[in-house]
Amino acid sequence: MRIGVDYYPEHWDRKMWSADARLMAETGVKLVRLAEFAWCRLEPSDGVFDFDWLDDAVRIFADHGIDVVIGTPTNCPPRWLCEKHPDILPVGDSGKTNPIGIRGHRCMNSPVFREYAGRIVDRLAAHYKNFGNVIAWQIDNELEANICYCETCTDKHREWLKNKYGTIEALNRAYGNVVWSGEYSSWEQVDPPYGGYNPAWLNPAYMLDLRRRAAEDVTEFAEFQADIFRSHIPGAKITTNTWFCSNIPAFRELFADLDFVSYDNYPATGIPDDYEDIYTHAPHLDLMRGIKRKDFWIMEQLSGGIGCWMPMQKTTRPGMIKGYALQAFAHGADTVVHFRWRTANTGAEMHWHGLIDHSNVPGRRFAEFAELCREAEGLADLRGTELHADAAVLFSPESEAAFKLQPQTDGFSYMEQIKLIHQAFARYGVNVDIIDEHEDISQYKIICVPALYIVNDDTVSRLYSFARSGGTVVITARSGVKDSNNNCIMEQLPTVYKELAGCHVSEYDPIGWSRAKLRFTDGAVFDCRQWCDILETDTAEALACYDSDFYAGKPAVTVNRYGSGTAYYIGTVGERRMYEKLAKTMLDDSGIPYIAELPENVEVTVRTGNGVAAMFVFNNSGSEKTVHLDGKDITLEPFGMSIIRK
Ligand code: GAL
Ligand code: ZN
Repeated sequence: MRIGVDYYPEHWDRKMWSADARLMAETGVKLVRLAEFAWCRLEPSDGVFDFDWLDDAVRIFADHGIDVVIGTPTNCPPRWLCEKHPDILPVGDSGKTNPIGIRGHRCMNSPVFREYAGRIVDRLAAHYKNFGNVIAWQIDNELEANICYCETCTDKHREWLKNKYGTIEALNRAYGNVVWSGEYSSWEQVDPPYGGYNPAWLNPAYMLDLRRRAAEDVTEFAEFQADIFRSHIPGAKITTNTWFCSNIPAFRELFADLDFVSYDNYPATGIPDDYEDIYTHAPHLDLMRGIKRKDFWIMEQLSGGIGCWMPMQKTTRPGMIKGYALQAFAHGADTVVHFRWRTANTGAEMHWHGLIDHSNVPGRRFAEFAELCREAEGLADLRGTELHADAAVLFSPESEAAFKLQPQTDGFSYMEQIKLIHQAFARYGVNVDIIDEHEDISQYKIICVPALYIVNDDTVSRLYSFARSGGTVVITARSGVKDSNNNCIMEQLPTVYKELAGCHVSEYDPIGWSRAKLRFTDGAVFDCRQWCDILETDTAEALACYDSDFYAGKPAVTVNRYGSGTAYYIGTVGERRMYEKLAKTMLDDSGIPYIAELPENVEVTVRTGNGVAAMFVFNNSGSEKTVHLDGKDITLEPFGMSIIRK
């Protein structure tokens, strides 16, 4: 287990570098990430490269036994390049070129940009392959699948559509363009969605294809850079740091060609009181691990109070710096890099706090970080251990994008659906995977399919055979709603899952923030919100019926025997306790061992491998907790972690 920091030598007086590196080494920092925004210093003018300063920094770190990850600076083309070739800048929805001033100001598809980006990446690879302590490469920074409205992108999209649909008639049919007289008569009429409209006003089929292509572009851009590295450095270790941005890339495809996943992890510092408010980042971490089903890195980790895109948030509470890094380890991270060594004194992010404050006087947060570094060294034996899970949640970036285009009802969130079901199982201290819907599911006992909105035939048939051969499947409301064109399917919901679920939806009620009630056959009553599928059972049996409104008495949650397996259908969004009740039954029925009594917000995961098994017991709360495990009481401080080797 390795701890690093994000460091920006170009932000600081050169005289500070050695002292910083010395303190890092003394503290136990094992690696730094450098240079991901430093293009204007690496290539101050066209074709004139200056790597001397970065060489010095890399050597200083080498002298202190610290490894380096170099980030490619392609997120931030320098001003001279934008001035010389304004067509490398992205174009916004008004049709006007976006002004420079922040970052991310490049069109990934621009051929001129590709030339310049390719050239600097090539130079960096050729140069730094000779530095022994440069151990990995980060491509760009937080790549997003945003839509660019430039001519290159528009032409590319037309070609993409021609490839997919063949004829303009087929495209019109697939999109249902007859609605509002939107039929195209030529490919040239296919424009990006100018005008800045709320996407919900636009054709969902057209919008989803645009998102798909933008996501493919990101994958292709990363491959373009990765290929350059590999041409110089066979076996180069390449990643890109990702997060849950508005337009998320296609995680699985993006990382398929890269060597490891890295994630920028910023858990909340203000802990909500409401149990319904899921603040833990455990689902995020499990999803990141699930992308390659391997250990991953945190490339940016919460260090202090954040603020800059928003007003400043609470500072990291005592225990959080150490606890949240260890929580990431507990979910499969093998390296955690803290953002950032020192808070910036200049630039827009000066209030996004690092480990050390503006004063450069290490304080409380730094002391806790130093403790973390010491503890991480004691975890060396766990390197290469992994999490193995019997339960998994399926995640679909396509459904995520489609829900963003059409938000369904007030407060309905796809990510919340994922978290609710993930947390229900995690509550019992079992490992839970979150994997892409296209991944193999045969090794699991329980597969949860929250709101799998867009139908993919292959996923559907794998779910059927999984249940047939004895697995438990959990399907929730808004599954099976759309075909692959993001159009509604003309069948009773849950359409393709109807036979598996053994029930159908006779009508639905999108209740938003209003409350409904449901009652289980054993008398347990729960609130529900956002969505009520009014169910009719076919072969299923009702586990819970609504207890409110005109559909009181109608099934809300059902269970069906299918083949040798079982399928649950949850037609609403319930309280967390409702999912926990169901999860317990499923764990019992599937014979998965679990911990029946864990205090609220205590998280348990197990990493195994290399002949070791370690149980991570984490108190993800601001108050002391006592956990009773294996006949012993363990008391955990706020955000405290206990690691028990078996
Ligand atoms: C991340 C980004 C960093 C920095 C940080 C704090 O999303 O990758 O470069 O901006 O947020 O704002
Ligand atoms: Zn473009």
